[in-house]
Amino acid sequence: MKAYATPLVKFEFISQEIGIDVYGKLEYVNPTGSHKDRESRNVLKDALSKGFAEVAVASTGNAAVSLAAHSVAQGLRCHVFASAKIPEEKSKLISSFGGELHKVEGGLREAHAECVKFVERHGIYDANPGRNFKKIEGDAVIGEEIAAQLEARPSHVFIPTNNGTLLSGIWMGFRRTPMRPRMVAATAPVTEIADSIAGYNRLDGAALDAALGESHGLALKVDDGDIIPATLSLMKEGVFCEPASATSLAALRRLHSEPHELAGPVVLLITGTALKYPSRIGGILSSRPAIR
Ligand SMILES: Cc1ncc(COP(=O)(O)O)c(C=O)c1O
Repeated sequence: MKAYATPLVKFEFISQEIGIDVYGKLEYVNPTGSHKDRESRNVLKDALSKGFAEVAVASTGNAAVSLAAHSVAQGLRCHVFASAKIPEEKSKLISSFGGELHKVEGGLREAHAECVKFVERHGIYDANPGRNFKKIEGDAVIGEEIAAQLEARPSHVFIPTNNGTLLSGIWMGFRRTPMRPRMVAATAPVTEIADSIAGYNRLDGAALDAALGESHGLALKVDDGDIIPATLSLMKEGVFCEPASATSLAALRRLHSEPHELAGPVVLLITGTALKYPSRIGGILSSRPAIR
């Protein structure tokens, strides 16, 4: 399970718009199209070292696709608990990679509760957010990579956030370096299009709050009215991500429109590819809003 560094690129149009250097950390170029591969690799290393043959996770889609793919590659059986409303494109991918999908009425929290019962009943390896520190540890490498890739110190790092696993992990990585940017959680508690982070479920809430507190960071709510133009602006930069990932840019625009201390440069995490989610992108484009 080899790990690869992802690119850090400067966004030209967005930097001009905001008036500071804005970089994108392109996590969507990971093997299954999201940062979740960072977590899956570390989690499966742990599961294998402990002799487990089966793993289980509750997910909004990306973690499940990733864990299923890496599990099949390692000869492990993977159970996925997801909302019955999981987008069909993502459920097909999970099944294609041999993941056994258990659909649950409700959202991520209900799927998580069912998955926890299942692992406890069957003695299966628990890969759930909030219950497995290996996920946070897997994401820590992202913070270390940014510190190595960026010469100037970033003032803020904007991160699409649901459970807070990713943000806590990146902060853990920065703490291994001299860089101490403010961590900004971009959240979408109410959304029709940012499915992967809908609800702001905070299953790693304690680690998330600690990272926000220590980094003097903040959580910023965005809505679909912010996320659609952000998704389109990223396309203009040559970045095709799912709408949940464009919340990092939407949150930057929110902060930029208020009195703030954006000393620059800043980094946006671009977490998941649009290619796993064509219907959502098609829906956005068919409404033909202006790209700025
Ligand atoms: C594309 C994408 N971005 C961001 C996140 C948020 O990560 P976390 O739940 O660790 O906060 C997720 C979580 O599923 C995701 O799928």
